[in-house]
Amino acid sequence: MDAVEYEMLRHTWFPVARVADLKNGVTSGSILGEELVVYGDGASVTVAEGFCPHRGVALRLGQVSDGALQCPYHGWLFEAGSGRCTRVPSLPPGRDRPHTALRTYPAEIAYGLVWSCLAAPFLPLPRLPGYVDESWQIGAGEPYTLNCGMRQLTENFRDRAHFPFVHGDTMGDVAQVVEPYRIARDGWRLGWTSSMGSEKMPEDLAEEFDHHLDYRLTLPMFASICVSSPSGGRRLVAQVTAPVSADGLRVRQFWLAGTDAVSAEQGAELADVLGYERQVFEEDHPIVENQRPIEAPMDLHSQVHTAADRFSITYRRVYAELLESYKAGRR
Ligand code: FES
Ligand code: CO
Repeated sequence: MDAVEYEMLRHTWFPVARVADLKNGVTSGSILGEELVVYGDGASVTVAEGFCPHRGVALRLGQVSDGALQCPYHGWLFEAGSGRCTRVPSLPPGRDRPHTALRTYPAEIAYGLVWSCLAAPFLPLPRLPGYVDESWQIGAGEPYTLNCGMRQLTENFRDRAHFPFVHGDTMGDVAQVVEPYRIARDGWRLGWTSSMGSEKMPEDLAEEFDHHLDYRLTLPMFASICVSSPSGGRRLVAQVTAPVSADGLRVRQFWLAGTDAVSAEQGAELADVLGYERQVFEEDHPIVENQRPIEAPMDLHSQVHTAADRFSITYRRVYAELLESYKAGRR
């Protein structure tokens, strides 16, 4: 990625871990090559640099003690929020502690994920569509690490034409022809709708064919698909991809699944939806890790497109606009 994109992504919210992955109050994450430690009680969390300022031990090996992060090597304590060092156990009473603190980053919890950004965010934290309210059940699936670009993976999730070739085992006999679709745009959000018949979705998820799909994307990379079945129940899957390496060619794919109250009443279990979507993603992984270039090229002339690719072309164009807007705001 070029210097402007790198800089813009430093100012972008990304998930770094699932709340559920806090072990002894601690877990780790990474954005653009910066290794981070995440600590807290799950209701509030701190995101900080991943290594102890004393002798550089990985703080993800530590634990939370009285709300503070304790380094596993010499037991220094770093308080929640500020990252300030509040105790150095080896010092005799009355001796001054070194004035030091972990570098901390903005931290938010949303949808069971801990979000952070390396520098002041230039866009708000992205949200699921407004119809996903408290009556929905939302779960965060186990994230995957992939050798693939963030935009490449985001395009894959939005790409309808690959379903019959990649997802035969999970989706069955999906129509190969992609009917023309129009993309609506609202600021940095894109959306469109389509329909899909499939015979292989598990029966408790979908008893009939002909599903209505609502695609949403908030740039740079927060994507969701909501599937409405003819009986009125809705299921949602969302994908949010975070660049973990500085060159952006290694990513962590976080994802959510959800069921609305109607589909829950009809017997859809969130665990089944998570299990099904996991299978779907696993079918995509050999594809997205074997594309060249590894990141989707911004130069539209370097690849060949068809009408079915309207989304990825729009995404690339709007992403270029986002970069421009970021650059303009920086001046
Ligand atoms: Fe962390 Fe010494 S390395 S307390
Ligand atoms: Co796919």
